[in-house]
Amino acid sequence: MKKVLITGANRGIGLATAKKFLNEGYFVYATCRTGQIPELEGENLQILQLDTTSGAFINDVATVVETAGGIDILINNAGVLLDLESNVINMQKLRDTMEVNFFGTVAVTEALIPYINNVGSIVNLSSSMGAFSEDISANSYAPSYDISKAALNMYTRSLAGRYVGSDLHVSSICPGWVKTDMGGPNGERAPEDAANDIFKLATSTTIPTGQFWLLGETRSW
Ligand SMILES: NC(=O)c1ccc[n+]([C@@H]2O[C@H](COP(=O)([O-])OP(=O)(O)OC[C@H]3O[C@@H](n4cnc5c(N)ncnc54)[C@H](OP(=O)(O)O)[C@@H]3O)[C@@H](O)[C@H]2O)c1
Repeated sequence: MKKVLITGANRGIGLATAKKFLNEGYFVYATCRTGQIPELEGENLQILQLDTTSGAFINDVATVVETAGGIDILINNAGVLLDLESNVINMQKLRDTMEVNFFGTVAVTEALIPYINNVGSIVNLSSSMGAFSEDISANSYAPSYDISKAALNMYTRSLAGRYVGSDLHVSSICPGWVKTDMGGPNGERAPEDAANDIFKLATSTTIPTGQFWLLGETRSW
């Protein structure tokens, strides 16, 4: 049975993605800060406590994964949006945002990558707000968030480059504007729509590695 680990699986896109993988017959390590996800159940499920900014939690999770023989897919979903509607950098918010969206994601990935099976994939939840190719005015209302996702995108590129020639695929995906706590009530997509896109991307063995995806197609960085 193929295994996937998802961060921030207790709500929003992460929760919908965990449900999607469970329904598709995967073993799911659903991780979250509290270690409890009442909305999830099933035999092929293990809920693990993981604050992605904590080295201690990351080590514990890596040990569980190593002992169980590894995973096939890592979905780096956990993220924060702390400076919405601001166009000025607040240093504390920038640091806090980078800590989760960038450093946390990198730390989790680097700790787990030795235990990701050879034919596998890593999907980083990014955002079009972190794209250099977007119009400048579009990237001005959550600067810390934008910067963190741009940095994450470069991590996707860098990691993909490290594994060129292998069967490990590394991707960034923008899920679109999704109705969640982060996306708000006016989001244009349901978390389940995003989960379907993430599932397709994560389970494809034919896609090019090191790309940025939106609605099933590559998009410009
Ligand atoms: N919604 C959108 O329109 C949209 C658009 C583009 C990209 N995205 C990206 O998609 C991902 C999921 O977004 P969402 O809309 O589902 O957001 P959400 O509803 O706000 O959920 C965020 C998730 O991240 C978790 N999280 C935050 N900090 C964490 C930490 N330090 N350790 C572990 N988990 C942590 C949260 O856990 P707690 O419950 O413990 O806080 C929650 O499970 C994010 O990376 C986001 O940037 C979303």
